[in-house]
Amino acid sequence: MDKHIYLVGFMGSGKSTIGPVLARKMKRPFHDLDELIEREQNKTIATIFETKGEPFFRELESHRLVQSQDLEPCVMALGGGAFLSEFNRKFISKHGVSVWLRVPLQLAKARCKDSQDRPLARDLKQWDSLFQVREMHYSLADVQVEVALKSPEQIASEIQEHLKELQG
Ligand code: S3P
Repeated sequence: MDKHIYLVGFMGSGKSTIGPVLARKMKRPFHDLDELIEREQNKTIATIFETKGEPFFRELESHRLVQSQDLEPCVMALGGGAFLSEFNRKFISKHGVSVWLRVPLQLAKARCKDSQDRPLARDLKQWDSLFQVREMHYSLADVQVEVALKSPEQIASEIQEHLKELQG
């Protein structure tokens, strides 16, 4: 498969942990879209949200995503909101395969409860509705894998199996 693999899913689903494991197994580079944005802007995501607002961050996110078409085939972890944009979803379906890491809400909450660097994790009370809305979008991904009670190695192997099936 020479397309990019884009990992999507809620905050705390393990995209940035599983991504490097999958990339190693597939012998391709790993990129984290949030990290690319932070490096380019020389600011943390939290600071971008605070100083420029979420809509500005979403523009940066789409812009940086589009630039990924120039990279050699890679595994890329996307931020939890990236797959909500129809523009982003269309781009991803053209240039890659989307993989949804499906995490139960309680596990995502437990993993993110002390997170200082996620602006949308500061008020976990709002997460129930955010989670519901987002699941509808994530379910449009090409592949989905449940992450609870599995190691990153197991999850990466499962993803590889699904990718083989997609190739036919
Ligand atoms: C966001 C998730 C974050 C980051 C930003 C917004 C979201 O990434 O992109 O804080 O809207 O869900 P992670 O999913 O890697 O935490």
